[in-house]
Amino acid sequence: MTLASRKLESKVALVTGSSQGIGQAIAIRLAEEGANIVINYRSHPEGAEETLAKVQAAGGQCHLVDGFTIQADTGTVADVQRMIADSITHFGKLDILVNNAGIEKNADFWKVTEADYDAVMNVNLKGVFFATQALVNHLLETKRPGKIINISSVHEELPFPHFAAYCASKGGLKMLTRNLAVELAPFGITINNVAPGAIETPINTKLLNDPPKLNALLQNIPLGRLGQPKDVASIVAFLASAESDYITGTTFFVDGGLLWNYQEQ
Ligand code: BGC
Repeated sequence: MTLASRKLESKVALVTGSSQGIGQAIAIRLAEEGANIVINYRSHPEGAEETLAKVQAAGGQCHLVDGFTIQADTGTVADVQRMIADSITHFGKLDILVNNAGIEKNADFWKVTEADYDAVMNVNLKGVFFATQALVNHLLETKRPGKIINISSVHEELPFPHFAAYCASKGGLKMLTRNLAVELAPFGITINNVAPGAIETPINTKLLNDPPKLNALLQNIPLGRLGQPKDVASIVAFLASAESDYITGTTFFVDGGLLWNYQEQ
């Protein structure tokens, strides 16, 4: 990519949960577009270091792109606030927040524990809420526009039996995005969701190792394959850039056609 064609030159982006999977691919892609990147991890510093090395390589040889890793549990409000504050201190500002970190727990509804419910809601919804709030306060104080991109799921629309808390968190994220789009538009701040289907990442390790389940899922994907993290990263790069300035409050599905595939057998 030539320097002139890079979409995010001089921007600073924070990608939560970027030590692996979709978050890592997003961090690398935004660096390719010229952004400085804050890489957040909870428990895998080695993954975050790997992302950092790839971010620096993606940024090119001119050293215009830099990265910085930060440990924070995005399910804890105090951690999330510290993460945003430290990102701003390190790079002097923050323009783009990608709320990517997410977890899911598989259990029959009637067996879900309070601890598992809280873990899912805290990371997938509460942490996103307060990270976004901290970024918005920074943007309002510095009178600058900004971009928020939430990594949601097809399950903000589609039921996923045995993942009730996960579905509730993603449905909540859909409405949070719609609401904030209206409330933040007067300040030039846009917010959108990217909703992946089945992507080949660590969150799907169990499924990937279960051929009958995997084949059943593939039958439901019109494009006939799982997605790759880079399939998600490319639309995030677009939504983080000025090319998407007139887009807010909506969801982009990256699912190979999974969501709307219903066929009578
Ligand atoms: C979930 C995966 C699931 C996929 C498709 C994602 O949101 O994290 O576990 O395979 O949706 O159902």
